[in-house]
Amino acid sequence: SKVHVTTTVNGDQAEFLCEPRETLLDCLRDKLHLTGSKEGCGTGDCGACSVTVDDRLVCSCLMLGVEAEGKEIKTIEGMADGENLRPLQAKFIEHAALQCGVCTPGILVASEALLKKNPDPTEEELRYWLAGNLCRCTGYDKIIRAVMDAAA
Ligand code: FES
Ligand code: FES
Repeated sequence: SKVHVTTTVNGDQAEFLCEPRETLLDCLRDKLHLTGSKEGCGTGDCGACSVTVDDRLVCSCLMLGVEAEGKEIKTIEGMADGENLRPLQAKFIEHAALQCGVCTPGILVASEALLKKNPDPTEEELRYWLAGNLCRCTGYDKIIRAVMDAAA
């Protein structure tokens, strides 16, 4: 039977009904229509589904929707302020740090989480932090340049 979940998503209360086995990623995408978070692998390997839960970076494909009860979720949809991009997002455009874009929401969410903890990371720290976010297109250097520039 379905479970009623009440949570906070990007600052607003959100409610949905889900099966106990449904992932948070599927709930975000299919029930709340927040399709920015992507499913690259569904097994915790690619980071395309990255969101924060109570300010901790998680793979939303590895978390159940029911576990979101009472939590504060932030997704890529909450990053920009309306039409105003966050500096990090603007740097991704400036550095052409995306191609197909499937990895981009997860990489932005993960990078923003790092900059919140460590506003001035070394390149090595950044590369280590983003090791769980795979990109099939860019070769990573532009992504690293964009984040380092945003941090500078
Ligand atoms: Fe969650 Fe790949 S879809 S880590
Ligand atoms: Fe295509 Fe990263 S831009 S996977």
